Amino acid sequence: MYAQLVTTEGGTPREGMSDQERAFQERIDRNEKIEPKEWMPEGYRKTLIRQIGQHAHSEIVGQLPEGNWIGRAPTLERKAILLAKVQDEAGHGLYLYSAAETLGVSRDELLEALHSGKMKYSSIFNYPTLTWADMGAVGWLVDGAAIMNQVPLQRTSYGPYARAMIRICKEESFHQRQGYDIMMKMCAGTPEQKAMAQDALNRFWYPSLMMFGPSDKDSVHSEQSMAWKIKMNTNDELRQRFVDQTVPQAEYLGLTVPDPDLRWNEDKGGYDFSEPDWSEFYAVIAGNGPCNAERLGARVKAWEDGAWFRDGLMAHADKARARRVAAE
Ligand code: 3HC
Repeated sequence: MYAQLVTTEGGTPREGMSDQERAFQERIDRNEKIEPKEWMPEGYRKTLIRQIGQHAHSEIVGQLPEGNWIGRAPTLERKAILLAKVQDEAGHGLYLYSAAETLGVSRDELLEALHSGKMKYSSIFNYPTLTWADMGAVGWLVDGAAIMNQVPLQRTSYGPYARAMIRICKEESFHQRQGYDIMMKMCAGTPEQKAMAQDALNRFWYPSLMMFGPSDKDSVHSEQSMAWKIKMNTNDELRQRFVDQTVPQAEYLGLTVPDPDLRWNEDKGGYDFSEPDWSEFYAVIAGNGPCNAERLGARVKAWEDGAWFRDGLMAHADKARARRVAAE
C-alpha cells in the first residue's frame, strides 16, 4: 500500500504536461492554495503524503529524547517548561497527521508505515540525549533548524499544510528560546557546566546540519517539490541560513562551533563551513543510527500497549452509532 503512496513523479516540470496539469501548475505559480477536494496530480498528492507524514512522525518520535529528561529536569520550573514543550510536539504531530489525512491516507496507514520502517522520520532523533545540556542544545539547534525549514513552509502550496505550519512555527519559536535559555544558564555557570554545554554543541552540531537533508546535488525530490511549492527552498539554502544565524549565537555563549574550517566569507556574505559526514547521514536514515532501534521500539510498544484503549473506544463508538440508528 505504502509503495503506491510514496512514489513521486519525476521529470522536468511542464514537459509533457496535460492541460489539466498545466492549469494546476499555473495555479501554483500564482501562489494559489490547493485545497483537499480539488484536483491535483497524483505525484503532488503522494509527495505531500510522504513529506507531511515524515514530518508528523518526526514530531512524535521527537518527543522521546526530551521525554527522557522530564523526570530529571533540575528545577520545577524547568520541568514544567520541558513538559509543555514535549506536549506541544505531540500536538504538532496531530495537526500534521490531520493534514495528511485530507489527502486520502488514514492515520493507521501512516503509523503502520512508520512502525514497519517503510516511512522515515527525521535523522536527528536517532541521537542520544546524554546530559541536561543536551536539552539546551536540542532546543537551540534542533528546534532552531526545524524553524528555519518550517517558516517558509507556512507559504507552501497545500492549504492544510501551510495552515498547520503557522501554529507550529509559533510554538517552535518558544522551544528554540527555552533551549537557548538553558544554554545561557549553563554557560554562565561553573566551568563544568560550561564544558557540558560545549560537549552538547560538539555532539549536536553536525546532526543538526543533516536535518536539512542531503546536499542539493544529491536531493532526489527538491526540483519537483520546489516547482510544486511543496518545498520553498533547497536543502543547502536553508542549511546556509541556519549556520549564518547560529554561529553568532554560539559566539555570544562563548562556545566554539566544532568546525576548524568555519570562516566568514565576505564575498558570499555567509559562512564557509564543513559538510556533515554524509555516510553517517545515510546510515542513520537507513535505520543504523545510534538510537534507531530504541526509538522505533518505543513507538511500536506504545502502539501495542494502547490497543486495548483504541478497541474500547471503537466498541463504544460502534454501540453509540447502533443506538442512534435504532432511535431514528
Ligand atoms: N532525516 C530523515 N530522512 C531525510 C532527511 C532527514 N533529515 N533529509 C532527507 N531525508 C530523506 C528524504 O525523505 C528522502 O527519502 P525518501 O525519498 O525515502 O522519502 C531522501 O532523504 C532524499 O532527500 P530529499 O532532499 O530528496 O528529500 P525531501 O525533498 O523530502 O527533503 C526535507 C527533505 C528537507 C526534510 C523535507 O522533507 C522537508 O522539508 N520536510 C518537512 C520538514 C520536516 O520533516 N521536518 C522534520 C524536522 S524535526 C521537527 O520538525 C520536530 C521539531 O519538534 C524539532
